[in-house]
Amino acid sequence: MENKSNIFLELKGVSKEFPGVKALKDVSFSINKGEVHALIGGNGAGKSTLMKILSGAYTKNSGQIIVEGVETEIGHPSAAEALGITIIYQELNLVQSLSIAENIFIGRHPKTKSGTVDWRTMNREAARLLKEFRIDLAPQTTVKSISIAQQQMVEIIKAVSKNAKLVIMDEPTSSLTTKEIDVLFQMIRTLKTKGVAVVFISHRLDEIFEISDRITIMRDGTYVATRDIDKITRSELISLMIGREMSQQFPERVSATGSELMRAENISDGVLLDNISFTLHEGEVLGFAGLVGAGRTELMHTIFGSRKKRSGSLYLHGKEVSIRSPKQSIRNGIGFVTEDRKREGLALNLSLRENVCMVAIQKVLTYGLISRKKETESSGEYIDTLGIVTPSAEQKAMFLSGGNQQKVVLSKWLMSNADIIIMDEPTRGIDVGAKREIYEVINQLVAQKKGIIVVSSEFDEVMGICDRIIVMCEGHITGILSKKDFSQEKIAALAVGEGV
Ligand SMILES: Nc1ncnc2c1ncn2[C@@H]1O[C@H](COP(=O)(O)OP(=O)(O)OP(=O)(O)O)[C@@H](O)[C@H]1O
Ligand SMILES: [Mg+2]
Repeated sequence: MENKSNIFLELKGVSKEFPGVKALKDVSFSINKGEVHALIGGNGAGKSTLMKILSGAYTKNSGQIIVEGVETEIGHPSAAEALGITIIYQELNLVQSLSIAENIFIGRHPKTKSGTVDWRTMNREAARLLKEFRIDLAPQTTVKSISIAQQQMVEIIKAVSKNAKLVIMDEPTSSLTTKEIDVLFQMIRTLKTKGVAVVFISHRLDEIFEISDRITIMRDGTYVATRDIDKITRSELISLMIGREMSQQFPERVSATGSELMRAENISDGVLLDNISFTLHEGEVLGFAGLVGAGRTELMHTIFGSRKKRSGSLYLHGKEVSIRSPKQSIRNGIGFVTEDRKREGLALNLSLRENVCMVAIQKVLTYGLISRKKETESSGEYIDTLGIVTPSAEQKAMFLSGGNQQKVVLSKWLMSNADIIIMDEPTRGIDVGAKREIYEVINQLVAQKKGIIVVSSEFDEVMGICDRIIVMCEGHITGILSKKDFSQEKIAALAVGEGV
């Protein structure tokens, strides 16, 4: 028997429907005080929806939420806050022009006797909190001058200062560096010692095993199981999550690279990128490894024409080309699956069908007009092959789960005629099961002699799918490895600029 008094929050038979989607079906489990409770499940399993219900952004259709023994309705974010429940969103909610201290105490500034803001007390209190969490920042620093990771830390501190009892983190690590993840985990441990519970959502199993006490697994909107983390193995976890045994993570491929597709020579941007040269061949998967901030995303934008280059040349099929805009890139057969799917990859207001067919529009024309039938057929193929969870091809992109949005962005470029596809963190936010589907698609593309560039911060991923790996550090190429030389250690050393 679980000790009731140890439970902070209990869900009983919680269900949630959207038009055409049963996002949650009769979900029941509980979250203990002061525990780190991981939530895992495939893309579209209902994790974010459940957390939005707990934080008052969505309302449930049925079921009960019991907080500290009392049944409650959480109809609004302020109701959640009053109960001590805070969610840290990925799109952070800080006011960029204000200081860290002002953000922490926004709407509840300490006041002096005469009723003005008591800056001294506010900054002192903020400094104390920053110190408690071992964050080396001055409370007066403007939020716009600190990194995304640091902003996330400020959000957490803000939650704590409001006496949060449960902090929900929905994929908090997806854009953090390894170092920043360490700091976040240190903060989570401090939260625990203060008796604050944390719900931690991630698709990265290593992180889950490192930080959580218990784990709840969800599948297709239903609750599957809750386990103590030290009583479950990785493979048990995966099979509970995807409902079957997982085949080998990286599909086999015989590498057969052909002639040169693209050559970059001495690309510099005058800011970060310094004399970058490399080649990409037909049928090759070329990896770009490194730490977040090494300049890989900037390099890809510079090649694609969405960022200005200062000097250097680009050759396609041996001929020099001048590319100054994404449009010219696309015309020259280059596709780009960007890292920031919300800003650059998706038209959130349009349907899945329209998003998938957006680049390869010529493939769905009949007598010069867009054929909806052809669009539906083509997008349907990708829904099937990539396992996109959606009620239909007509669903607006904004209503898809994070991982499923990423699959739509990929489909768009897979459908295009591009013979070079650049993929920046293609599996970010993608569940373990669906990653393999994406790797298989990459294999099919190179079998058609296309060249694929994969930028990834996950070393095992680049090692698992690439023919060669280029490692970057601070705007430079620090090494080019061929398959026989792949090792985690080598990549890690080159990524921090230590030659081997
Ligand atoms: N506002 C909405 N309108 C319609 N459908 C929605 C809405 N929000 C979520 N859904 C649907 O509910 C289901 C669950 O989505 P949710 O975002 O909770 O998944 P998730 O487990 O967080 O997935 P991921 O790992 O990809 O982030 C999905 O099928 C999604 O498309
Ligand atoms: Mg989600």
